Amino acid sequence: MELTPRLRALADLVPQDARLADVGTDHAYLPVWLLLQGRISRAIAADLREGPLNRARETARQYQVEDKVSFRLCDGLSLVDREEVDVISIAGMGGETIAAILQAAPWAREKLLLLQPMTSFPDLRLWLQQHAYAIQRERIVREGERLYTVWAVTAGAMEPLTLAELWAGRQDREDPLRAAYLELMESKAKRALEGHLASRQRDEGEIRRLTRVLEGLRDMRKEL
Ligand SMILES: C[S@@+](CC[C@H](N)C(=O)[O-])C[C@H]1O[C@@H](n2cnc3c(N)ncnc32)[C@H](O)[C@@H]1O
Repeated sequence: MELTPRLRALADLVPQDARLADVGTDHAYLPVWLLLQGRISRAIAADLREGPLNRARETARQYQVEDKVSFRLCDGLSLVDREEVDVISIAGMGGETIAAILQAAPWAREKLLLLQPMTSFPDLRLWLQQHAYAIQRERIVREGERLYTVWAVTAGAMEPLTLAELWAGRQDREDPLRAAYLELMESKAKRALEGHLASRQRDEGEIRRLTRVLEGLRDMRKEL
């Protein structure tokens, strides 16, 4: 089994012998790959919907690790016990859903979180900051035409993120994809600003905020 670069970046952050819960597992490629590699010995694969969880069962059956995976049909971590896991991965979901899952399970603070949001990056970074989580590490991954970020998060203090960092994160400056990622965030912020400028009911506060985000992102790119 080959993982895509996005899932591989998540897998690389899972410590040896960790007890993993993969929330929103769908096909369960991540836990099954980790089991096949001998990186973990058991996993919880959780999903909100029956169809994806059946796909997870099918993958585990195909690779003969079904007995090492506990399947949970549930919203977020609602059927996962805090004593069962060390690491929680939540990937391929919107930032707001990820925040809601963490909000509903305050015990997740004791664990290593591996997050890979698809949308609402600024909202999720802000939520983490406001709830005393620290983003320890961000990696940028290219898969096909798309760029993704994978975050390792724990409870703890983090130097407050600037407005632009809420959008683009604080990855390693040496990351070869950093410039491309900043450019992508700049284009998203620019589109959002243009939308507000064209709106009949202009929200001047939001226009000022987005202008500062855009300036900050441009400065970050110049500093590379
Ligand atoms: C796009 S798939 C991502 C699959 C895999 N994690 C990955 O990154 O490749 C998103 C999955 O999250 C599940 N999901 C969405 N909201 C959820 C929630 N609140 N709790 C558990 N699973 C959820 C969906 O049913 C779907 O299977």
